[in-house]
Amino acid sequence: MAMNKQLTILAALLASTLCLAQPKKATFQYGPWIQNVTETGFTVIFKTPEPTLAFVEVAPEDGSSMYNSDRKRYYETVAGRRTSGTLHKIRVTGLEPGTAYRYRVTGKVALDDSYAYGIVWGPQLHMVEQISGIRTLDSKAGECRFSMINDIHAHTDQYKDLIKGLKPEDMDFLVMNGDMASYVNSLDTMMKYTFGPAKELLQSVPSIYVRGNHESRGRQFDLVPRIFDSPTSEFYFQFRQGPCAFLVLDGGEDKTDSSGEYSDTADFDTYRNTELEWLKEAVKNPEFVNAPWRIVLIHIPTISHITPWYTQQWLCDNVLPVLNEAGVDLMLSGHHHKYIYVAPGAEGNKNAFPILINSNVDRLDCSASAKSLSIKVVNREGKEIHSHSFSK
Ligand SMILES: [Fe+2]
Repeated sequence: MAMNKQLTILAALLASTLCLAQPKKATFQYGPWIQNVTETGFTVIFKTPEPTLAFVEVAPEDGSSMYNSDRKRYYETVAGRRTSGTLHKIRVTGLEPGTAYRYRVTGKVALDDSYAYGIVWGPQLHMVEQISGIRTLDSKAGECRFSMINDIHAHTDQYKDLIKGLKPEDMDFLVMNGDMASYVNSLDTMMKYTFGPAKELLQSVPSIYVRGNHESRGRQFDLVPRIFDSPTSEFYFQFRQGPCAFLVLDGGEDKTDSSGEYSDTADFDTYRNTELEWLKEAVKNPEFVNAPWRIVLIHIPTISHITPWYTQQWLCDNVLPVLNEAGVDLMLSGHHHKYIYVAPGAEGNKNAFPILINSNVDRLDCSASAKSLSIKVVNREGKEIHSHSFSK
């Protein structure tokens, strides 16, 4: 080690110890929030204001102390080395299905990482002592309960009103069905509008993100996958909770790739065709085939009687036949900013299953058992304004 570098590190440590300079403490800028919950794991995502080396510890809800040095520490690594950036995505594995857990996040700020053989760290702190009530999925659970919001378009007050009264213990996850923001010129803005208004709720309740067409817009659109996670690492994936099997699909942009709005940047036809090939295999998954309820979550619905812009019609022509053949029971969508219910085959549509399009100002509350599925549409004041029930 070069002598001058040694002196630099010693000076930093001395300053830290003697409080001559206040060392930066590890803290959250956004989050944490939970993504990609499965039967055996979940992903904790958050942003720190300073480059930070962090880890997550998990404990069952068994009344034991979080202060147990035997607990496994989960790290974010790249090819074997822990990363110390500002955006953190830490995967927790090895859990049991349908089980409630607590987690804790601990970190230390990189005060000086300029020397490859000696990083100077700030004090290691518990960034949050304990967040309780995160529950893994369970395909054998007797019911599935979730809420859905969409098309918030950065209206934070509206978002806060819509999630008011939601209790973590009453829901398996929250669905964000697209267009939470209007564009992504800055990833920070996307975090602010997607997770900020529901900070308390989403630190323990997993969120399911369905990409909206607006969220592929803006300078930093390509960074959006960093703040989400899914079993496929794509915006299209599938999962199962109790009696419900879900297909999460991404329609991409709503107009043709050659539309002027996209400034020569769109290649969504290729993307949708790749996704379509994935979908044809996904519907063969036994967890999907054998589920009492097969539910599709997609921002742009497969209807053609209302403003069937290019992508909506493409989805009707290419995706809908696969979903009909696969025996889908229900589609939940957004995009139109108004409540629309399309019964099977209504208005000349070719859907063999009901399609419920939620407005931009209401919330859906869904609960399903093996025999019945009910949906309540609740407005910003918490009043039920529509309801649907289906049975087997
Ligand atoms: Fe939209």
